[in-house]
Amino acid sequence: MKLFTYHTPELTPTDKVPDCAIALDILRATTTIATALNSGAEAVQAFSDLEKLMQVSEDWPLEKRLRAGERGGAMVAGCDLGNSPLDCTPELVGGRRLFISTTNGTRALECVQNAPVVLAAAFVNRQAAVDYLMQEQPETVWLVGSGWEGSFSLEDTACAGAIAHSLFKQLNRPLEELAGNDETLGAIALYSQWKDQLLAMLHHASHGQRLLRLDCHEDLKYCSQTDILDVLPIQKEPGVLVKNQ
Ligand code: MLT
Repeated sequence: MKLFTYHTPELTPTDKVPDCAIALDILRATTTIATALNSGAEAVQAFSDLEKLMQVSEDWPLEKRLRAGERGGAMVAGCDLGNSPLDCTPELVGGRRLFISTTNGTRALECVQNAPVVLAAAFVNRQAAVDYLMQEQPETVWLVGSGWEGSFSLEDTACAGAIAHSLFKQLNRPLEELAGNDETLGAIALYSQWKDQLLAMLHHASHGQRLLRLDCHEDLKYCSQTDILDVLPIQKEPGVLVKNQ
């Protein structure tokens, strides 16, 4: 297995696909997607384009769908939800499809949607992603951060490092054999620096600061927890993620 880390969708190669791609948007899209599926959502369908989300979801019965839209951290008018994982309770999302569009996370999912296996991970379900990789042993794995409008996000690359760090410990192979690019080595170093203070890291991060200005303190706390959900979102058709069984 070789791990390649890409900090943003813009830095992710477009001329090839890996055996397995993992989209990461710790604040907050992939945390929210994992939480929605853990709470019993039938599926999560991701769109980079809000208009397309509105059109496609229109064909679904009202009681079977929820529209989640976020831009700049805030909820989009006309949607049922924003992008807070804390809104994804079993009472609300159970048995329904979550149609979601966010500023960056859904673009990260879209840029790897042609890979044969596409997963969504965050700190909350890191171990589930690691267990999948240990079991399936894909040859090439891309860890794709969502970033913020084309620039680096501390928390996404740190989570790539959390996955790589755990695999490194379990596989017991030299780091240079496991790491396919220097970004992966950098991601492991970043995670090693912050691993005991993930909430503090989110408070320092630029998107963490943006969310704090929007009063999302509890979201940061939730997103900073590691391995609390035993759920792994996996793409079953382009853009549609379900719980891996
Ligand atoms: C994104 O896709 O950029 C986000 O998940 C932003 C957010 O809602 O925190």
